[in-house]
Amino acid sequence: MLRPILKWAGAKTKLVPQIRALVPADTRRLVEPFVGSGAVALNLALKENLIADANPDVIAVYDALAHDPIRFVRDCQALFIPGHNSRGAFEHLRKEFNLSHDRYRRACLFVYLNRHGYNGLCRYNQKGGFNVPFGRYTTPRFPGCEFAAFRQFLRHAEIRCADFRPIIAGAGRGDFVYCDPPYSPLSKTANFTGYARAGFSHRDQIDLVDACCAAAARGAVAVISNHDTPVTRQLYSAATNLIPLQVSRLISCDVANRTKVSELLVVYAPESEGQLNHATTRKG
Ligand SMILES: C[S@@+](CC[C@H](N)C(=O)[O-])C[C@H]1O[C@@H](n2cnc3c(N)ncnc32)[C@H](O)[C@@H]1O
Repeated sequence: MLRPILKWAGAKTKLVPQIRALVPADTRRLVEPFVGSGAVALNLALKENLIADANPDVIAVYDALAHDPIRFVRDCQALFIPGHNSRGAFEHLRKEFNLSHDRYRRACLFVYLNRHGYNGLCRYNQKGGFNVPFGRYTTPRFPGCEFAAFRQFLRHAEIRCADFRPIIAGAGRGDFVYCDPPYSPLSKTANFTGYARAGFSHRDQIDLVDACCAAAARGAVAVISNHDTPVTRQLYSAATNLIPLQVSRLISCDVANRTKVSELLVVYAPESEGQLNHATTRKG
């Protein structure tokens, strides 16, 4: 399994085999509207890819790598020096990032902040300021091999910074749409939706279902990841298939402190789709 450049809380690297099993044999293109670290797109490695995210900082990294890879890798690497691995240096560079309007410089700093910040978190305050604290890693590793692998992948990718609605609206026959949105909360108090500045409401979850149904009606296969709760079972009651999974989740910075969480892979397929020949449980 290839590792992405960005560390990402909730990256789906471990789910790639289950997701790959859902890709019809005649698929031409992956459409991934919530691409985050790109762990899924990178490892599915389809011939054509449309990767998108509403977070402009994430997309700026992929744009910079696609358009000027040698300069971008060099400028990112220049930030990975021992003198920058302290709380003071981190906070200084985070301040520079938050004050900067230079998209390229912000992309370089975003890679630094992602690898030196706490637990691969990506979080912004109400004013849009990146506010993840220093991660205290002994020696943050520059992801040189990851840059090389992602650069190769981007040769086959179109990159867009957009909301999921227009991205999925362009999907049809021959497309496999994988959606990993900010999750519906496990409980009313556990409402973490801080990836994108505007948050992600239940209305957004409903719109995502509608967008996937419409894509399936145009001939695409669309798959959504989410928690397995009474709310999501209701939300996805019209899906073609519901595949329940137990996923190991880190609940603090201590790697030994993991718990199993119930999740769903939700499949919307065209009526005539005969290629989903894997062991799935119809509606759970
Ligand atoms: C759970 S993360 C995706 C992680 C990804 N699957 C991975 O393996 O790294 C959710 C992503 O959705 C993006 N996002 C949030 N709201 C969005 C929206 N309305 N449209 C598109 N992307 C959105 C966030 O910026 C974040 O990158």
